[in-house]
Amino acid sequence: MTTTGTEEKVNKPLDPANLTEGEKKHIPVIEAPETVTAGEPFEVTITVGSIPHVMEEKHFIEWIELYLHNKLIGRKELSPSGEKAAKVTFRIEADEALIAIKEIETCRVRGVNICGNCGEKSVITNLHAVEKCNVHGVWESYRQIEVMSGEEKEEGKKCVWKA
Ligand SMILES: [Fe+2]
Repeated sequence: MTTTGTEEKVNKPLDPANLTEGEKKHIPVIEAPETVTAGEPFEVTITVGSIPHVMEEKHFIEWIELYLHNKLIGRKELSPSGEKAAKVTFRIEADEALIAIKEIETCRVRGVNICGNCGEKSVITNLHAVEKCNVHGVWESYRQIEVMSGEEKEEGKKCVWKA
């Protein structure tokens, strides 16, 4: 069972291909660039959900968290506002170290893309949004993102990690 830092159980849609109305109101929608460069800020907007969730006194989204490559990047506490939807924008940046971490984790299965010409590296990882509704509990979603290295380009180096 997936848990967040709060150790609360995360709800899963019964059929991800056919979300119910209740699931659509709770599964976070992540808007972000498809490709970013390490060290350069970018914005990630999280909305709950694809059908807006109410933000009323008795029923509202308590918080929204954003993770990048399993690391907590931001958490926003929310309160009943009467707004039509729960929406948060985080301005974040990917750490250059993420490239090296992913390289070590997954190089054997080509988790790192290296340009044969300039040596520029990129990794594919995930943004992970988690939210908690005070009535319906914790829900999550993922969105793939490509992080390009922000380091100076150099002659292409071959991966030295061997299986
Ligand atoms: Fe709810």
